Amino acid sequence: MDTQLLEKTARELVAAGKGILAADESNGTMSNRLEAVGVSASPDTRNAYRANLFSTNGYEKYISGVILFDETIRQKMPDGRNIPDALTSLGVYPGIKVDTGAKDLANHAGEKITEGLDGLRDRCEEYFSMGARFAKWRAVIEIGDGKPSTACISTNAHALARYASICQEQGLVPIIEPEVIMAGDHDAQTCYDITSSILSATFEECRIQGVHIPGALLKPNMIIAGTSCSEQITRSEVAEMTVDCLTKNVPHNLPGIVFLSGGQSDEDATAHLNLMNEMDIIHPWQLSYSFGRALLANALKTWATGDNEGSQSVFLHRSRMNSLARTGDWSSELENK
Ligand code: G3H
Repeated sequence: MDTQLLEKTARELVAAGKGILAADESNGTMSNRLEAVGVSASPDTRNAYRANLFSTNGYEKYISGVILFDETIRQKMPDGRNIPDALTSLGVYPGIKVDTGAKDLANHAGEKITEGLDGLRDRCEEYFSMGARFAKWRAVIEIGDGKPSTACISTNAHALARYASICQEQGLVPIIEPEVIMAGDHDAQTCYDITSSILSATFEECRIQGVHIPGALLKPNMIIAGTSCSEQITRSEVAEMTVDCLTKNVPHNLPGIVFLSGGQSDEDATAHLNLMNEMDIIHPWQLSYSFGRALLANALKTWATGDNEGSQSVFLHRSRMNSLARTGDWSSELENK
């Protein structure tokens, strides 16, 4: 394992003022999103939408890496360059989603186990040769009706650690993503407790598998009450509970935590990150972003109207807002400037 390369890549992915763009929607998810804004989905339209984002002038100031899907890492920019080469030329790390999706967990109705370990070593080797330097694997943990089971927590934690170990062997920094889903009527304390369980189980598995923690990143949910819970908590409470949960369950030698947005509004996701970075305490890790929807939802809507430049400026604006949140310098007044 090249620990120096892994540590350098991980550190640069959470460099000051920068975060990650998650543009790794599977073909199915990306197609649904395109069709929802009236665009017919095909490899060409998926390519055109993403290549337009990656052509945005100056986004590399705020974006350290882009997570791609298998189809996208093989596609080209309008000028004929391979997408990973175009990203690398700007100093933006190409990343790759390597799981093959969340599938039904045997004997546990309504629960999921993320698959993709078979053949992963060979796929990582190929992605590295194409320019990828980091990877992502997302586990899905739902709350409600007795969920999550111990089986769901332990199988997903085990798979995340095995994935991380294989990626590191092949030179890719693993982003470890155990996502506790926001849907449900659970309160914030329940989200805190379940998030604690999956994080502690995951890092215990990482210890057993020999994952090199300084060469990995964590992509967690924030601590938020379920979307249909009647007792929502304030933005400050989200920030405080999230930092508390992470402090108790995440090794302090991990270089960075790159949050997912998970369906929060653009502004909530940014405000929560800003509040965490504004706190008076010094966190052991960089607190950054690896947002999908909170960076791209409005850029996609604008692109669907045929306004390529407008879409780029929406993406650039959201990237800048989140960059400011890395240092606690964001405010809602800046949203309309
Ligand atoms: O796996 C989830 C994505 O990479 C991040 O997406 O910010 O829309 O939750 P999100």
